[in-house]
Amino acid sequence: MAWVARVITLPGDPGARHPAPAPLLRRELVLPAEPRQAWLHVTALGLHRVSINGQSVSEDLLAPGWTPYRQRLLHDTYDVTGLLTPGANAIAAALGDGWYRGRLGWSPGNDRANYGDQVALVAQLEVDLVDGSRTVIATDGSWLASTGEICSADLYDGAVVDLRERRAGWDRPGYDAAGWVAAAELPFDHSIIEPRIAPPVRRIAVLPVATAPAAGGRVTLDSGQNLAGFVRLSVRGRRGDTVTVRHAEVLEPDGSLHTRSLRSARATDVYVLADDSEVVLEPPFTFHGFRYAEVETEATVLRAEVVAISSDTPRRGRFECSEPALNRLHENVVWSQRGNFVSVPTDCPQRDERLGWTGDAQAFAPTACTLFDSESFWRSWLRDLDLEQDDRLGVPSVVPDVVLAGEMRYGRAGWADAATIVPWAVYESFGNRDVLEAQLESMRRWVDSLVARRGPDGFLPSSFQFGDWLDPDAPSDRPWEAKADPDYLAHAYFAHSASLLADAESLVGDPARAGRARSLAEDVAGRAWERWAGHAVSNQTGCAAALQLGIAPESERATVGRALAGLVRAADGRVATGFLGTPLVLPALAATGHFDEAFLMLLRREAPSWLYQVEQGATTVWERWDAIRPDGSIHDGRMAPNPVDPEGREGHMLSFNHYAYGAVIDWVYRHVAGIAPDRAEPGYRHVIVAPRPPGGLDWVRASVETVRGRVATEWRVEGDTLEIDVDVPEGSRATVRPPVTERSSVSLDGGWAAGELALSSGRHTVVVTAPAIADPRALRR
Ligand code: BGC
Repeated sequence: MAWVARVITLPGDPGARHPAPAPLLRRELVLPAEPRQAWLHVTALGLHRVSINGQSVSEDLLAPGWTPYRQRLLHDTYDVTGLLTPGANAIAAALGDGWYRGRLGWSPGNDRANYGDQVALVAQLEVDLVDGSRTVIATDGSWLASTGEICSADLYDGAVVDLRERRAGWDRPGYDAAGWVAAAELPFDHSIIEPRIAPPVRRIAVLPVATAPAAGGRVTLDSGQNLAGFVRLSVRGRRGDTVTVRHAEVLEPDGSLHTRSLRSARATDVYVLADDSEVVLEPPFTFHGFRYAEVETEATVLRAEVVAISSDTPRRGRFECSEPALNRLHENVVWSQRGNFVSVPTDCPQRDERLGWTGDAQAFAPTACTLFDSESFWRSWLRDLDLEQDDRLGVPSVVPDVVLAGEMRYGRAGWADAATIVPWAVYESFGNRDVLEAQLESMRRWVDSLVARRGPDGFLPSSFQFGDWLDPDAPSDRPWEAKADPDYLAHAYFAHSASLLADAESLVGDPARAGRARSLAEDVAGRAWERWAGHAVSNQTGCAAALQLGIAPESERATVGRALAGLVRAADGRVATGFLGTPLVLPALAATGHFDEAFLMLLRREAPSWLYQVEQGATTVWERWDAIRPDGSIHDGRMAPNPVDPEGREGHMLSFNHYAYGAVIDWVYRHVAGIAPDRAEPGYRHVIVAPRPPGGLDWVRASVETVRGRVATEWRVEGDTLEIDVDVPEGSRATVRPPVTERSSVSLDGGWAAGELALSSGRHTVVVTAPAIADPRALRR
């Protein structure tokens, strides 16, 4: 489409300097005949809510979403035929600060207007009338501007809405716009506007709340679920009554809201009532990360609900088993994905951060693809990653690239490698080469920047790394001081990225480059092994990286696997990995045949472990393994000044909704349910069915909605028999690797079978007598 719309704003908007009332823009139009078809193309600098004749043009929230706004701004196209009538019509828009002009980062006072100081609307309404004529109404200086009841709205701080300031009828035709002024046009380069390709942010669930009285006449609401969203209230009171809603993820032992971990995010919505009629209150242009909310008001609250929001990716994976704690862990990861997929993949939805940390994204991408149809979500973000990448410095630690400065900003191992790891994860799960084609140049640029950084000895110079961030053995206020040597991990990820690039080159690129990338990967891996082999086998992350990132030579894999299993046994299954090691450790144990130890970790209930969080009542995945301590106290979250942070201040870091450790769920699908895409025939064209039942788990039922249809497994253990039902969709095939012992006999669909079993599409049943059952309990001390 061709844009004729100008970029318009409220002249003299004080929001350029400080939080201020949200600009409103309006325009009336007369249609000489019945509309046959009408489209609205719209985007904004900031956030927009557009209506026609008082009705919203869509259910989308926080549109147009967050992208590197200087290079890429997304627009939506809505079918608005049903909203228009012959005769007079009104189109109206409110603008929010959002990511464009609102707060980002943790430097209060200095954190607004990261992209620009003026929010603005770009809208183009194209109406084909039944008489064959066409009317185009686009934003320009003929629109009128003012402000209304939204006194301020910020993603971190929340919204202030004074209903006494509402301009009654402003969004309908025939409104008396006395006092409104002509909109100002801003210069703008329309070539950066692109259509949105990922699902929009929407309301995805409405949850009932339990209420409890709190101190000072306040009321505490509990939705039972930590999430991203907001509270919706129906209230009745008097003109001038205020309603204040504050949010928190957990409660202090005395029942008050724990707000320390929000850091400087005020996360407070305030409303002032205009009259004594019943009114529904929802905060505009904001969201909060919370389970609990506290409402303080003189008015009567008639109804309260919690609305969950997320980028609206369709659900893909389902998992259920006989162990309720494992089901809850799965559910927690689902909710952490929902709450952190808000336009971009974020670290957390609650504090003054909510950034697209690349390390968290690469750790979680395989799980994200298994749980939700997130292909276009990732592809959109990967496009941003490519745009923000620097040929020399590499990939930013957060995408979109904001807030960070100095050493932390670019190129850290396991973070910047999102450039290669995420495209491959998406390709493996959805089977579509387009993502590799689209990202190939970005993958090359990242690997080239690493090559350029190598010294004459072939090694990367030592530099600050986040490393195995939040290793539970690191000092809790210095999460970068993990056991695994950051220089070793930097080389392990270097080799891994080169190897993924080689794979991508041979599929969609240049065979000669594939060869060179392969040799590079081998060279870097060889040097890393030579220098760090002894160190690698001394810690869980070291072993897991050696096995999963292709560092240990083939001949050493069994030895490294045994070393890892030994470490896990010696620690009684205690998780000893951070953000980088955690996604790798169970796959590494499984790849070397140590299922007893893998389940010892997965099913452990003491801290640090996945199920410890569940036992402590977590409803999402925590940032720190022990965010709530065994004695019930909340972790102090203290952070020492980071050695390379230019601001070098003490800090605080404690989120109850961080998906990184939830990366384990991909392994649960692969090895507990037994559903895995074959890397060589991705997109579940060939499914590997290799479940490994652990003792104590009686049954599992799981499925993934693949591009070809539903892959499902269901197994149960009865006495000495394991029965596995497998559904293979049309166009796919599967290979079952039954867990057998020397005493086993195996049947497929009623006939005797042996070895690996090849399945065509349809439903099949495999029965294994005397199956191999992983026995973590035998290892417990
Ligand atoms: C974020 C993490 C991120 C880390 C890297 C934290 O503040 O919440 O998720 O990966 O910093 O240093």
